Amino acid sequence: MRIDIMTLFPDRMNAMLHESILGRAAKKGVIEINCIQIRDFTDNKQCQVDDYPYGGGRGCVMMAQPLKSCLEDIKSRAGERKSRVIYMTPQGAPYTQETAKRLKRDYDHLVLVCGHYEGVDERFIEACVDEEISIGDFVLTGGEIAAMAVADSVCRLVPGVLSDEECFTGESHWSGVLEYPQYTRPETWEGRSVPDVLLCGNHAEVERWRRKMSLKRTMEKRPDMFERLTPDALDEKLIAEIEKDAKRMKLTEPVSVRRATPDDLDAIMLIVRQARNSLKKHRTDQWQGGYPDEGVFLADMSRGECFVLLYGERIAGFFTLSVREEAGYAEITDGKWSGSEPYCVLHRAAVAAEFRGSGIASEMMKLVKRCCLDFDRTCIRTDTHRKNKAMQKLLRDSGFRYRGNVLVSAEEGHDPRRQAFELYIDGKETVK
Ligand code: ADE
Repeated sequence: MRIDIMTLFPDRMNAMLHESILGRAAKKGVIEINCIQIRDFTDNKQCQVDDYPYGGGRGCVMMAQPLKSCLEDIKSRAGERKSRVIYMTPQGAPYTQETAKRLKRDYDHLVLVCGHYEGVDERFIEACVDEEISIGDFVLTGGEIAAMAVADSVCRLVPGVLSDEECFTGESHWSGVLEYPQYTRPETWEGRSVPDVLLCGNHAEVERWRRKMSLKRTMEKRPDMFERLTPDALDEKLIAEIEKDAKRMKLTEPVSVRRATPDDLDAIMLIVRQARNSLKKHRTDQWQGGYPDEGVFLADMSRGECFVLLYGERIAGFFTLSVREEAGYAEITDGKWSGSEPYCVLHRAAVAAEFRGSGIASEMMKLVKRCCLDFDRTCIRTDTHRKNKAMQKLLRDSGFRYRGNVLVSAEEGHDPRRQAFELYIDGKETVK
């Protein structure tokens, strides 16, 4: 690719365009950029390039003759190249990545004409210009900055200019979406950590996350681009996830806990129904019958073992923390409990659907620990269905350890097998 820039300021432009990546590419010979002084082609003694406008008005207009002579000289030296003469003007077509791709694809010689003063004699434009380009709806003092933007963005598409094709195929505007966020060392900077997914080493996961972030950014920052996008099946899925994430509530106030009373029963049963629907999607029979019903909660309440989570005035979840030994925990297979000291059992915990994904479940686990300490115990045991991955993750993230498998008293025809977990709040377990 060869680019000739017609300008009144070739030295300043040369300095910029022969630095760094473009400078190295020019040395390698994959591109050639020349900045040509228009003034060298005047046919008057004063080397005048502009004159007053016919009809009066402000400023001066660049004369057609020096421009035409300069262009002819360039063309005479361009040989058989496929050339395009482009006039940089705020009246031109808006410049986009698509324009850059087209210019790189269809031509191997661009002549960029930089106007100055109040413009260029219209007859030169009519006679010699193939295309007019604007780099935005604002007016610069001349076309040089615009020409540099065009030269830079076209040249970097030329093979051999960037290190490998990856460098531009993934980036903003290439495929109609903005680029995903990038991170480098250190892993944590001023308390801000690199997203976990980028550290996991799973290439497919990283690619999926990057595509999702690209779509999310485009949605937020460039809704006009997003509207023009033709999403494929994966994009559709990711867009649905982004919309779902956006609806998730963010916790801005502290979450508190208090003992539940029968007045809370309606709110609790609503959350039970929501949890039942959610568990159903995971094809588990946990909570798919009548359990837990109002009677179970009223009994928990009467023992002072049922708690509700409060977010402001709202009941955002519940749990039962009992000091009674759980009969099913006496026998544990494929592992063992850490010790034999008195423990609390965490039963029947759920958060309201509107709070899912807000981080409230982790807050709940902190409150569970506090309630356990209030019962003067430091060990919590609990169990969950092997298909309830969300609960298993929450337990592990909250410091619980998997201890083995237990059988619980389940409803007729329901699977009684459960995974057993244990937490020592003081860390004093013997089994690690
Ligand atoms: N010359 C002056 N302003 C310009 C713009 N916005 N784009 C291209 N060339 C220009």
